[in-house]
Amino acid sequence: MVEIMHSNILELFELREEALDGGGKKRIEVQHNGGKLTARERIDLLLDEGSFEELDILKVGRSATSDGDEHPGDGVITGHGTINGREVFVFSQDFTVTGGSLGEGHSQKICKIMDLAARVGSPVIGLNDSGGARIQEGVDALAAYGEIFHRNVNASGVIPQISCIMGPCAGGAVYSPSITDFVFMVEQTSYMFVTGPNVVKTVIHKDITSEDLGGAQVHARKSGVAQFVYPNDILCLRAVRQLISYLPSNNRQKAPILDLNDPPERTDPALDYLVPSNPNQSYDMNVLIYSILDGAEFLEVQPHFAGNIICGLGRMGGQTIGLVANQPAVLAGALDSNASSKAARFVRFCDAFNIPLICLVDVPGFMPGPEQEHGGIIRHGAKLLYAFIEATVPRITVIVRKAYGGAYVVMNSKHIHCDINYAWPTAEIAVMGARGATEVIFRKEIKAAADPDALLSEKMENYRKHFMNPFLAAKRGYIDDVIFPRDTRHRLIRTLQFLENKKSSRPDRKHGNIPL
Ligand code: HXC
Repeated sequence: MVEIMHSNILELFELREEALDGGGKKRIEVQHNGGKLTARERIDLLLDEGSFEELDILKVGRSATSDGDEHPGDGVITGHGTINGREVFVFSQDFTVTGGSLGEGHSQKICKIMDLAARVGSPVIGLNDSGGARIQEGVDALAAYGEIFHRNVNASGVIPQISCIMGPCAGGAVYSPSITDFVFMVEQTSYMFVTGPNVVKTVIHKDITSEDLGGAQVHARKSGVAQFVYPNDILCLRAVRQLISYLPSNNRQKAPILDLNDPPERTDPALDYLVPSNPNQSYDMNVLIYSILDGAEFLEVQPHFAGNIICGLGRMGGQTIGLVANQPAVLAGALDSNASSKAARFVRFCDAFNIPLICLVDVPGFMPGPEQEHGGIIRHGAKLLYAFIEATVPRITVIVRKAYGGAYVVMNSKHIHCDINYAWPTAEIAVMGARGATEVIFRKEIKAAADPDALLSEKMENYRKHFMNPFLAAKRGYIDDVIFPRDTRHRLIRTLQFLENKKSSRPDRKHGNIPL
């Protein structure tokens, strides 16, 4: 007897086929011609091959029922899959379907996977490519955004949330990505702004392109909204996979261990020559960073923003660590407002997700001047101070060279309860640099001297000899050990090992009030 397939099964084939087509061949061609991949192609590149399991492929939204025109998947593809074998949830907006605009059904699909991700403790990755609120759905579309924002906030610090901006992102829609932990952007094809060029023209009579107003480079270099920028969709998605490899799936787990076959006891004699004898000469802190990390692998966060501080993820002894380092090669490594808020946000991310912090210090102080003071350096600097102090993950500091004044205390010093503080013999731990200090203390004598320059030099030399070293701080116990530069990697890994089961608690409270 010949079995006939049930008509519903045949219908399911058809419905799925229709959904897989998205907005149709023509619109897909437009997407490709614009240098963009489709929503489905992006998911395929992001996830392990064949791992994607789609949810709500048949869902249609409110505007579909009102105008009778059903939008496949309601403009967004949602589901879960794996990255290097670990589960993640993903939504990918389909610009070929009503411009990826967000209405009620579209939002419900996103909210469903956000709820599932929070429940099972897996990251959410959003691939954004959308014309914003679906105009035909009016206030329902705005309400739909609110539901997403609400979930973004509740999931913050619970599961990692990652946003890729791979097309337009305008109006209030920008606020969901900006609440998430990391924003990736693609050059030339993505932009983010609260009000677009047309509104700018109307309100402030200024002509500006989308790219100049809110393109990838603007947000990577000027605003600090984007943490990562890549030249195309493929490289962007590959980088998201790399980022995920460093992270735990949720705040109850530790990051996965990955052995890169780099011996923990490896020393680097070249580091003994890294710090120049002349304190005014700069050097590149990246030399130290790449030397101590496993396999010289480092994922720098916000590499183009506030280059005077370096933040990023690497591994030591297989364990993920968050690294915060002053960069003497940019603005002499001084802390300004942007550097402070960049590092503060990174420290808080690491703390939320059980990633130990390593701080490499060469800081001459906070950046002086009216621009910084009026821009709120006090408020921004306080964020970094606050972030380090509230962090309960293992905290380790190595003072490489300068550690002056308030910036010394802020940069994860012993005095704000860092667990272990090392210094290189080249460390200069003091209230301020030699010139500033001698000019304050010996102002009168220098003014009255027959040869003021000679006296200033003599006093500075004297000050350097007595104060510009790590030994005074080590005598007080503020520095746990003065280490040989070449041994830095080994000492850090051993310290991470013994701090692994560190327990530290915070006072009982609803939440603190970080100076935002
Ligand atoms: C409904 C939309 C849409 C939207 C685009 N489309 N945006 N449909 N609501 N918001 C549709 C278009 O009508 C078109 O349909 C298809 O998507 C592709 O759009 P095009 O304009 O042909 O594409 P392109 O030339 O690439 O321009 C893309 C665009 C432009 C720059 C995004 O579409 C645009 O300006 N859209 C409006 C953007 C906007 O102002 N959104 C509201 C932002 S405010 P057809 O059928 O013709 O192909 C907001 C508030 C959020 O989002 C608040 C949260 C609290």
